[in-house]
Amino acid sequence: MQIIIYNQKGGVGKSMLATQLALYFDTTIIELDPYGMLNDTLGDDIVYKVELNEKVPEIKEGDVIYDFGGFDDLRLDEISKSADLIIIPFNPTINSLGTTLKSYNRVKTQNVPVLFVVNAVLNDKDVEESISFIKENTQDEIDFFVIPHTRALQTVENEGVSIIEFANSSGLRKHTYRKISGIMKDFVKKIEEYLE
Ligand SMILES: Nc1ncnc2c1ncn2[C@@H]1O[C@H](COP(=O)(O)OP(=O)(O)O)[C@@H](O)[C@H]1O
Ligand SMILES: [Mg+2]
Repeated sequence: MQIIIYNQKGGVGKSMLATQLALYFDTTIIELDPYGMLNDTLGDDIVYKVELNEKVPEIKEGDVIYDFGGFDDLRLDEISKSADLIIIPFNPTINSLGTTLKSYNRVKTQNVPVLFVVNAVLNDKDVEESISFIKENTQDEIDFFVIPHTRALQTVENEGVSIIEFANSSGLRKHTYRKISGIMKDFVKKIEEYLE
């Protein structure tokens, strides 16, 4: 399983998703963001950091998640050749949509299935508006998944743990994190459908 997380916009949740998916599916993260710091929280066992001037390791088999930086990275073309899915997270705000559209148009040429993640959502109207913006500007059928804005995902990010696992670790947490944990379970199910 090889999943690419891509958006030329920074701060949209790429590393958050890479972390959650890698912890859930027990995969390596290849960190392509020169400013990324995932190995600080997750450690070198999980995160393999590739500097900009370094060659990306060629992975034919084995499970890996590619966490890109917030820029147009030429390495996308090579990596896409063995990818099963490209996830484009974005925030449904005006200042994120233009770059997201540009990122999608770049990704589209790779012939890899694309799943949008509308991330850090504060209200349903933003989801509707941003999805119709993308549909209108591409004329494509697009698949998307919605993740709400929640402190819980920031908490587990600092801890370097999977939200699903974290929610199961005590009775109180189960109660507190039930909703977001359920959403993330649906999210991994959706991803599994792409991997079948
Ligand atoms: N659904 C969410 N709810 C709340 N905060 C979020 C959510 N997704 C991401 N964040 C926070 O937004 C910030 C940027 O996320 P990050 O994954 O680093 O983005 P990127 O890798 O695209 O630059 C981080 O502080 C992260 O904890
Ligand atoms: Mg990042």
